[in-house]
Amino acid sequence: MLTLGIDFGTSNSAVAVQRADGSLQAIALEGNSTSLPTALFFHADDEHVDFGAAALQAYLTGAEGRLMRSIKSLLGSKLMDEQTAINGRPTSFFDIVVLFFRELKTRSEERLGCTVNHAVVGRPVHFVDDDTARDALAQATLARAAHAAGFDTVRFQFEPVAAALDYEQRITTETTALIVDIGGGTSDFTVTRLGPGRRLSGNRATDVLATTGIHIAGTDFDRLLNLAEIMPLLGYGHVDASGREVPSAMFFDLSTWHLIHHAYRRQSLHLAKSLWTNYADINLHQRLMWVLNERHGHRLLANVEAAKIACSTTDAEAPIDVACLGDDLLASLAPAAMQRTLQNPLNDIVTCARQCVLAAGLKRVDTIYLTGGSSALRPLTTALQLALPTATLVHGDRFGGVAAGLAYSASNTETGAEAVHGALQ
Ligand SMILES: Nc1ncnc2c1ncn2[C@@H]1O[C@H](COP(=O)(O)OP(=O)(O)OP(=O)(O)O)[C@@H](O)[C@H]1O
Ligand SMILES: [Mg+2]
Repeated sequence: MLTLGIDFGTSNSAVAVQRADGSLQAIALEGNSTSLPTALFFHADDEHVDFGAAALQAYLTGAEGRLMRSIKSLLGSKLMDEQTAINGRPTSFFDIVVLFFRELKTRSEERLGCTVNHAVVGRPVHFVDDDTARDALAQATLARAAHAAGFDTVRFQFEPVAAALDYEQRITTETTALIVDIGGGTSDFTVTRLGPGRRLSGNRATDVLATTGIHIAGTDFDRLLNLAEIMPLLGYGHVDASGREVPSAMFFDLSTWHLIHHAYRRQSLHLAKSLWTNYADINLHQRLMWVLNERHGHRLLANVEAAKIACSTTDAEAPIDVACLGDDLLASLAPAAMQRTLQNPLNDIVTCARQCVLAAGLKRVDTIYLTGGSSALRPLTTALQLALPTATLVHGDRFGGVAAGLAYSASNTETGAEAVHGALQ
């Protein structure tokens, strides 16, 4: 019986399956790519829906329609049951999650050549920080969506535990590891005892010494960097002659992946238009209206994200493409500015990592295993290494490890993967 390991990520999703002979298959979801951006584009003209990189491409090439990203961030929020107008038609966010899950299922089945009705789905340690009721609601909603997409059984596994099981496949000696999974929406940690011998033992629950998590990651970095570097060009923080600051709510919407469409609603546009009296420099207001009318929000935020990745990869100043603002503006992101802007969230993430080690009853770990796209962020890896100086830093498979570990979880029922079928029929 095949079971899909589904890593439904805030930014990227992946699926893997363990075959009967024990080997692992990462499913090619879009061309040869085993990672599918968690994005949908609803075309206005023919109601066709694009997924993944094709959805991002449709938006970037100016197709008429609506782009959705970061839909996982809506889980556990009141917005989930709300309707949103997609090309004039009311659609619930829940239905959009179902659509994405159905696509993952269909594409996987096409690759495998058979129907698969069982899934182990990853979940962050906390969908929602400090609110167990909403956190439980988020998991129940995700289970409901997976069932609605056609899965008969749905179990959940913590994303960092899945990453640990994947890492364990490649080690030859025993280690106590802090697994660090920093993605787009959440930063998740586990301290786990791993080893080639343990891999074969049935009950792994006692090897998982602690798990912690916090709802801060790459999309928050994008928001803070957009607010610091780009939104001032549209009037964020701008003060008029009488000392009044331009109201900031729309700049936050334009900087938050899953809220950008709020800024394009009729009442938001109306409000934005009326704000010209708050501007001493009317050019800034004109730029804001241009961005709203041309729907450049996702484009600007994507350009900030690209600069974040370039700056972190090269450790040098990276240009931010602001050509869509239509004048001769230049913007860039320097390593020192990035470090300054992200200081607080990075401190919070490192504190959460330390708490995981303490909760495990340990003072040190042998290894820090890094996974998730944002684990490549240079100031973060530096801070983690400083916090646990004796540990060896291991850079893992950043985008495929969780899905692989979920597939391994499917065949090992003692890793804490929790069955939710039955209760949800
Ligand atoms: N080289 C890089 N440096 C810094 N950040 C990066 C780099 N590459 C990707 N990212 C960021 O990683 C994030 C996506 O990572 P990933 O695909 O692991 O997240 P996810 O699994 O979708 O999210 P989550 O697990 O939190 O739901 C994005 O915010 C992206 O900007
Ligand atoms: Mg992830």
